[in-house]
Amino acid sequence: MIKIRVPATSANLGPGFDAVGIALNLYNTFTFEELPEGLEIVGCDDDFNNENNLVYLSMKKTLSKMDCKLRGIKITMENNIPVSRGLGSSAACIVAGILGANELAGKPLSKDDLLKIATEIEGHPDNVAPALLGGLVTSIVERENVFYNKIHVAKGIKFIALIPEFTLSTREARGVLPREISFKDAVFNVGRVALLISALSNGKFDLLKYGLEDKLHQNYRSKLIPDFDKLKSICDNNNALGTFISGAGPTIITIVDEKNKEFISNLSKELTLLSNNWLVKELEIDLEGAVVLGQE
Ligand code: HSE
Repeated sequence: MIKIRVPATSANLGPGFDAVGIALNLYNTFTFEELPEGLEIVGCDDDFNNENNLVYLSMKKTLSKMDCKLRGIKITMENNIPVSRGLGSSAACIVAGILGANELAGKPLSKDDLLKIATEIEGHPDNVAPALLGGLVTSIVERENVFYNKIHVAKGIKFIALIPEFTLSTREARGVLPREISFKDAVFNVGRVALLISALSNGKFDLLKYGLEDKLHQNYRSKLIPDFDKLKSICDNNNALGTFISGAGPTIITIVDEKNKEFISNLSKELTLLSNNWLVKELEIDLEGAVVLGQE
């Protein structure tokens, strides 16, 4: 039996579209037990309880790359990461399946190999990289290889996730993006993402409100998130350091000074006046990434 824990992730962090992501301390766990034959999946909706399950597909793809064949498998999932909310639930499934396959095969693959396969499956590395490695990770794909860097984040901030009850698929949220952007908007994002990473790394948190701005996706996607502008103003009025759409949304994350003790209670009061049952969750950075908790 192999047990694997994978953290939630928030991709983009505003301007870092498809290139920046951070692991957060909300976890799914996956248990794998080999069977003589067949597939058994426990702990997920009926829609995913079949051969198209992302954990299973990722496991099979990884094993086939190693020329290993899976006889049968029981996958038990304990899900705490909300699905289709922009918190990396798909990335968690992909990373768990790949890591589980590597464990079953006797760990022939390196972290870089695992990340390459995960990126092939997900299509971009910004969620799978921090899910696998933990922390704040910048990543790019260059001729099918993934290059990444894990960046130290200075102490003193907390991440508050505002999670609505409605879902938004990544496909839909990518579908509203323009095919081309202007040179001016590209320059806008280059500056912001550089400022963002440097501010997180050296603790100049007063720069986050500029560093989290973006012209590539948030203006388009915010229209799919009812009350986005209102929520952003509520966060600003309660001294948030900066606010962004988590991944493809609809979750919104606001970064707050850890000394801002009143933030959650003030925010929660205002959220009760809005529809969509926004849930408030205080999260910290997960530094470990995916871990194998046990193997018997
Ligand atoms: N970078 C991706 C996006 C993350 O924003 O579409 C979600 O998969």
